[in-house]
Amino acid sequence: MLSTINFTSTAAYKALLSDQTRLASTTIAQLFAGDSNRQATYRQTFNGIFFDYSKNLIDEKSFQSLLQLAKECGLEEAIKAQFSGDKINQTEGRSVLHTALRAKSSASVLVDGENIIPKIQAVKAQMKEFSEKVISGAWKGFSGKEITDVVNIGIGGSDLGPVMVTEALKPYKTRLNVHFVSNVDGTHIAETLKKVNPETTLFLIASKTFTTQETMANAFSARDWFLAAAKDDVAVAKHFVALSTNTKAVAEFGIDTANMFVFWDWVGGRYSLWSAIGLSICLSVGYTHFEALLAGAEAMDSHFASASFESNIPVILGLLGIWYVNFFNAPTHAILPYDQYMHRFAAYFQQGDMESNGKTIDRAGKRVNYATGPVIWGEPGTNGQHAFYQLIHQGTQLIPADFIAPAVTHNKIGNHHTLLMSNFFAQTEALMNGKSKEVVVAELQKAGLSEAEIEKLAPFKVFEGNKPTNSFLVKQIDPATLGSLIAIYEHKIFVQGVIWNIFSYDQWGVELGKQLANSILPELENEEKINSHDSSTNGLINQFKAWR
Ligand code: F6P
Repeated sequence: MLSTINFTSTAAYKALLSDQTRLASTTIAQLFAGDSNRQATYRQTFNGIFFDYSKNLIDEKSFQSLLQLAKECGLEEAIKAQFSGDKINQTEGRSVLHTALRAKSSASVLVDGENIIPKIQAVKAQMKEFSEKVISGAWKGFSGKEITDVVNIGIGGSDLGPVMVTEALKPYKTRLNVHFVSNVDGTHIAETLKKVNPETTLFLIASKTFTTQETMANAFSARDWFLAAAKDDVAVAKHFVALSTNTKAVAEFGIDTANMFVFWDWVGGRYSLWSAIGLSICLSVGYTHFEALLAGAEAMDSHFASASFESNIPVILGLLGIWYVNFFNAPTHAILPYDQYMHRFAAYFQQGDMESNGKTIDRAGKRVNYATGPVIWGEPGTNGQHAFYQLIHQGTQLIPADFIAPAVTHNKIGNHHTLLMSNFFAQTEALMNGKSKEVVVAELQKAGLSEAEIEKLAPFKVFEGNKPTNSFLVKQIDPATLGSLIAIYEHKIFVQGVIWNIFSYDQWGVELGKQLANSILPELENEEKINSHDSSTNGLINQFKAWR
């Protein structure tokens, strides 16, 4: 089981407080000035991933204190516990084994005394066979035509991971068009159904529980739409498959359980793209590329489980995050991919990180007395530069940011990639160095402004700099590299959760919204005036009823 140490009571925490005081009076740029070879100390390479964390406000002493913090909080034991199937999701009594989904077929991972690897391999074989049949055209729809479109219906972890990966790996696309419907807003399914033909469309109903309101509503609407054309319940078997842990609910929906791809309760929803939930990925990019994605993640799992903390990429990334959240009061963290195909990467890790570490109760059941998970956000560069970078450069909050970019593009068009990369390099340098008043004044003098004008304008043009960034320069966004990158961020979340002494694998906060929506639903199904809530909620419901 995981420790219940409050990290603020460790010796390392005290050391870090004094490290913070020392470093608060210096800058990252000064640390570079004092060590011309600084990057060599603060970088790691891993299978086509070059991780540069030298542009952080750390020195040798603070870095050692961070590593010490991980040790004192029992991270080593926690990693072993997670990988070996201990029920570290204690509030739900579950193991946390998305890592087993990508383990080698020769591995052995026990849950309640059973080696789970053979059943994982069996579902993977089923996914391979099915996806190859659909891609080759051997799988036919009810009128004998080949499938051309796939619609994945799911939400949260049953949507975001597959969306992100299929977008990131678009260069590897098969002949199938894969669509995703998640929102219960009827617009989402309505607009998707306009693009597809019932004779040639395959629906994947992706839901771990098979009870999620949004997914079931969309699934029933999809089935109604389909049956209006097929006019025969028997045809459903050729057009609807389920990705779920809930066999009973799948059968009740009317999907033949022979067309069900199972996974298990030890796969967290937001960590499920590696499981049967990844079927849309297999259909979108082909099973071989799905396997390569898993292999890339597995390679990172081995690194995370075996590398010493000082060279362990997820451990370092997690500790740097803690450094800014808890010692510099940074409330948010930006993820900024310089790759258009990666445009959903930050959105994916919004769920991954915030649903995991957005917690206030520690593992001992007490309220924490420190900040936990930061707000994760971001958009691809360079678009973000023309939108919100202003606040990162000159706003009042400290916003640590991760920059991710491929050296090789999938689309060599003119000098676009060189332009993109010049921005990637320029931004982290500018965030670190800023622009001093002296430089601003010199620039304005050169532009011929008067002393009075310079005095007035200069403060607005000064950039304080000293904004920390991590850079992930990867060779290319291919399936294996993407798998490794995702695994880095998954393990980073785990590292932080262990140190913050919280349970990262439950999500009780989401349950409240589900319960409340279900209790209000019957009140919207009649025309009576409502007075069972506070005056704000009553007023809104009654206005809605008057207008609808
Ligand atoms: O949003 C809460 C949540 O429970 C997520 O953790 C999960 O990924 C999502 O709902 C979807 O759940 P399901 O796959 O059971 O439909």
